[in-house]
Amino acid sequence: MLRATSNEQRATFPATRLRRSRHAAWCRDLIAEHRLHPCDLIWPLFIQEGKNTETPIASLPGVSRVTLDILVEKAKLAHRIGIKAIALFPMIDEKLKSPYGDEALFADNLVCRAIREVKNAVPDLGVIADVALDPYTTHGHDGIVENGHVHNDLTIEILCKQALAQAKAGCDIVAPSDMMDGRVGMIRAALEHEKYHNTLILAYSAKYASAQYGPFRDAVGSAQNLGNADKRSYQMDPANSDEAMREIALDIAEGADMVMVKPGISYLDIIYRATTSFDVPVFAYQVSGEYAMIKAAAANGWIDGDAVMLEQMIAFKRAGARAIFTYAAADIAKLLG
Ligand code: PBG
Repeated sequence: MLRATSNEQRATFPATRLRRSRHAAWCRDLIAEHRLHPCDLIWPLFIQEGKNTETPIASLPGVSRVTLDILVEKAKLAHRIGIKAIALFPMIDEKLKSPYGDEALFADNLVCRAIREVKNAVPDLGVIADVALDPYTTHGHDGIVENGHVHNDLTIEILCKQALAQAKAGCDIVAPSDMMDGRVGMIRAALEHEKYHNTLILAYSAKYASAQYGPFRDAVGSAQNLGNADKRSYQMDPANSDEAMREIALDIAEGADMVMVKPGISYLDIIYRATTSFDVPVFAYQVSGEYAMIKAAAANGWIDGDAVMLEQMIAFKRAGARAIFTYAAADIAKLLG
């Protein structure tokens, strides 16, 4: 924030030399406007069926899909290094996928079992689960397809049941990432009706139809189901930012506790606008493509991957993000010591 100085002389050279306060590391640290802390980070984790298995995801270097026994170890690690919450994303067996994604509602599905196991083993770690059908549908869309279109109101009914199944399993934060109209209000009503008064809703409010979700779709196995289809009839047009403010305002009015802007780095202007326009916590998602680009360039020796990762994290904080989803959360927390 620029403030008028009472002493005009102070604003001019040589009385003012901004390099003075930059000349030593201790001083730079002292005057830093933003700081990154492990508390700022949310760690998304991919899960799969089986025992003691990690499956590396080729398009997400350093990230593996893990079975629930390993998930619990990762959850313990997250808690130990100061991360406050993890987000779970399942790879569902093709045999369990259907046009309606009914597996999403099953109390003993992979995500619900994962939630129970993590909350059992590490009760103080927040657990976030995505509310959307894409890991569960044969067509790879986030909702129910009718006559070639994702049907808004039918989808919401199912999403309410999915959110309730997750809340019943002990999920702390349900995170609708589907971009249907009106889903936050309906999910809030469903949670209240069943007396889940303390289940938080993190609304993916400004979620853009981005080309940067590819590695994620590989990780949850929805890429081949989706094929050449896109999600532009429900996710936002990257050309718009006023519309993002309308989405956020609606989700807050419908009962969202926090809102998300996604992707992150390419949408810092949206994060900044959101944090200056609204008083709810705004989270950002450094999405799979954004993470993968850093890893790929670093693997080629073109950039210092750790340094770029930290620079992007502080950029999120500067823009006003309260917490950041990043696949590098554990690596960053370790870097921060
Ligand atoms: C699914 C979902 C997606 C992501 C999070 N939840 C993909 C999509 O909308 O197709 C993307 C995250 C990432 O790319 O890291 N609703």
